[in-house]
Amino acid sequence: MKNIQVEKLGNIPTPFYYYDIELLQETLAAILRETSESENYHIHYAVKANANPNILKVIKDAGLGVDCVSGGEIQASLDAGFAPDKIVYAGVGKSDWEILLGLRNDIFCFNVESIPELEIINELAISEGKTANVCFRINPNVGAHTHANITTGLAENKFGIAMEDMVKVVRLAESMTNVRFLGLHFHIGSQITEMDDFQALCLRINQLQEQLEAEGLKVGIINVGGGLGIDYNNPDKNPIPDFKNYFNTYKNNLKLRPGQSLHFELGRSIVGQCGTLITKVLYVKTTSTKQFAIVDAGMTELIRPALYQAHHEIENITSDAQAEATYDVVGPICESSDVFGKNRTLPSTSRGDLIAIRSAGAYGEIMASCYNCRPLPKAYYSETTIY
Ligand code: LLP
Repeated sequence: MKNIQVEKLGNIPTPFYYYDIELLQETLAAILRETSESENYHIHYAVKANANPNILKVIKDAGLGVDCVSGGEIQASLDAGFAPDKIVYAGVGKSDWEILLGLRNDIFCFNVESIPELEIINELAISEGKTANVCFRINPNVGAHTHANITTGLAENKFGIAMEDMVKVVRLAESMTNVRFLGLHFHIGSQITEMDDFQALCLRINQLQEQLEAEGLKVGIINVGGGLGIDYNNPDKNPIPDFKNYFNTYKNNLKLRPGQSLHFELGRSIVGQCGTLITKVLYVKTTSTKQFAIVDAGMTELIRPALYQAHHEIENITSDAQAEATYDVVGPICESSDVFGKNRTLPSTSRGDLIAIRSAGAYGEIMASCYNCRPLPKAYYSETTIY
């Protein structure tokens, strides 16, 4: 692992998250570089990937907006100093208090997922004397080549409004007193590495725009969601995703109309590679068929392997043994899915060694739980002096 000072980390109680703030800043700089010439591009960081206040602060300082999916995320973003007019708010089940929080803070836009939700937003906006900006989340029925649990753009998923209902819904919004129709919102899934999937989305949006224009409806904003994947297999070789290719896919395929703005909601691709879960080996247990490296972190700190069979690189960062052996790296939780990796080759590993579980910055710390009455993990940063 680059940029990690093992001797400094050795004294910190494990398990904990370690964030490489310089890598996060370089990743943000790469995004800004690729979009600097497109004034109508707006990047909203998807807070659901990681809402650690220090991480939010670095992202805010880079000038990004946020994409929130709950009142808690709106509050965390406001607390981190994000301007309300850079906050978009999505989610199939927005509670009244969450809608009110958004209205009272004059957030930029509600990404609306159903007609009943639109009606409640209008009612609450009337009661508050506000006008709510809304985009409609459209289910484009575009499949992404990713894990079934994280594909969202298919007709069978609970998300969004069907393309064929769009004209009706936009007309309904236009007839309401306290909502203002801004545009369309999409998101087809997460950890997408094939640009063809984003291209398919662009083509679908082009079709829909023509359909709406034929009905005389004007769209101001296109929000294409997030979804760009990271290289979980080679975090050191590819620490920063290929943003050039990603943004070019949109530049080359999406037909934006004059004056339209294009919004992105990137989560994983911004924070995924900067985070590492550091854990300590408690025991090495040998059975008739296997060797287990039992570590002090578990699915409570990082649930992705258990929930999505996700691959994370695992490194022993303290062993200097020449000999290697194969281990199942497992946690202490009372669940057989509490496995970080099977048959991993590591340098000879023993009790007390520090293990790094890589690419854990997105959907890691934020999905931690207290199952088995375990405390939530703490976090430390490469620029320890600034926090
Ligand atoms: N926008 C919307 C509407 C979303 O639902 C999501 C993610 C994003 C943006 C950000 O997507 P990203 O750029 O991070 O791919 N816990 C899972 C991922 C769930 C993603 C949910 N939605 C995981 O650990 O892989």
